[in-house]
Amino acid sequence: MLRIDKYLADCGLGTRSEVKKYIKSKQITVNGEVVAKPELKIDENADEVCFKGHPITYEKYVYYLLHKPAGCVTAKQDNVHKTVMEYFSEDVLAKDIAPVGRLDLDTEGLLLFTNDGPLTHHLLSPTHHIPKTYYAVLDKEVPTSAVEQFKEGVDIGDDKPTLPAELVILPIETDEDGNVFYSAELTIHEGRFHQVKRMFEAVGCTVTYLKRLSMGALTLGDLPKGEYRKLTEEEVATLQK
Ligand code: URA
Repeated sequence: MLRIDKYLADCGLGTRSEVKKYIKSKQITVNGEVVAKPELKIDENADEVCFKGHPITYEKYVYYLLHKPAGCVTAKQDNVHKTVMEYFSEDVLAKDIAPVGRLDLDTEGLLLFTNDGPLTHHLLSPTHHIPKTYYAVLDKEVPTSAVEQFKEGVDIGDDKPTLPAELVILPIETDEDGNVFYSAELTIHEGRFHQVKRMFEAVGCTVTYLKRLSMGALTLGDLPKGEYRKLTEEEVATLQK
């Protein structure tokens, strides 16, 4: 059982005060009866709730993917920097979403958000080795020996070496001003603190730009920086496997 105003806000109909206005103006019905007060308790699994005569469906869990820009922190609140939460609209935030894992302040790319606590726990558990692929720009050429080292696991100063990771060294590029770019794609199966940067440090390279391209079957695609989208049902199903 759930209060009708909380239920409506959870459905994304508006903020708690907005939905109270809808109740006051008799726009909400439960099983055909006009709702008189926001305290009314409903059974979210059985009652039919309508707004302006149209049935509302209750989504307990929601899943979003954000293209995180650099310069914002993966936190719910911060006194200094913009947070990743600030990219979402009020109705999405009303669902009480939180990031699954984190990206550094200067890292861009794919970041998953949900209010599905059990799934978050599952995805972040150390035994759940969901692959995450990053694109990295480095200050110098990555030694080809790093491919083998990363495949075997590399010592980054923790108790244990990293799990095997797949490194693809990309062709060296030069722009019209003669600037040379060294880059690589790295797929890791853990989520240690600053892991990608520390792995490249272990082979003598400094990461100057980092972007997460994918997480399991989820890919950033052409989602513009600073924007988010809902996961498809198929994408949610692949995460739950
Ligand atoms: N590894 C890092 O070093 N930084 C990130 O933001 C993510 C992975």
